[in-house]
Amino acid sequence: MTQTKSTNITWHSGKISKEDRKAKMEQRGVTIWLTGLSGSGKSTIAVELEHALIENNHHAYILDGDNVRHGLNKNLGFSPEDRTENIRRIGEVAKLFTDANLITVTAFISPYRADRDEARALLGDGEFVEVYIKCPVEVCEQRDVKGLYKKARAGEIKEFTGISAPYEEPENAELVVDTSELSVEDATRKIIAYLEQEGYVEL
Ligand code: ADX
Repeated sequence: MTQTKSTNITWHSGKISKEDRKAKMEQRGVTIWLTGLSGSGKSTIAVELEHALIENNHHAYILDGDNVRHGLNKNLGFSPEDRTENIRRIGEVAKLFTDANLITVTAFISPYRADRDEARALLGDGEFVEVYIKCPVEVCEQRDVKGLYKKARAGEIKEFTGISAPYEEPENAELVVDTSELSVEDATRKIIAYLEQEGYVEL
């Protein structure tokens, strides 16, 4: 738990309730939390998912690890402490976006179960859908789209998830999508089918 340093602060509420937003936007906000190894397909699936949602008149936005680390989280590295802080901030941002009633798709390795559970705890009931983008590390390494596994094996990148840093698999994810078996299209369809079934979207 991060200590609250600020004092003398007051919460201000707006005129628009969550229900107002839902009615106006004809959807309910939710965070779809994609977790998995580097190269498992999180970002690719997030892009397809966002595209499909927006094409069908939903309001969606992606928070992606590589992108967020260019700005908001540029002062964080890949030590366990920095990864925890990375996910804490993203949990808070996802909470704000979900409160704004967006369908928020996050694509972070988020390797620690406790960090993902903290993010879940920030959001309300039914506002957090954890999707494990499952792929054996051997397959991710073979894909090596960014050439990072090669560098990690050569010792040029320290603390690389799956090679020299841990990844804790989800135990209670709402959905598991195995990208060593499914195409990007089928993986995306599986997530959309879940969102439809649970009444988040109509596509
Ligand atoms: S997380 O572990 O803190 O959730 P995040 O998703 O933000 O990670 O960033 C992961 C991305 O950073 C990877 O897809 C990869 O491109 C890059 N990266 C650079 N160094 C590492 C590392 N040591 N371990 C994992 N990913 C790394």
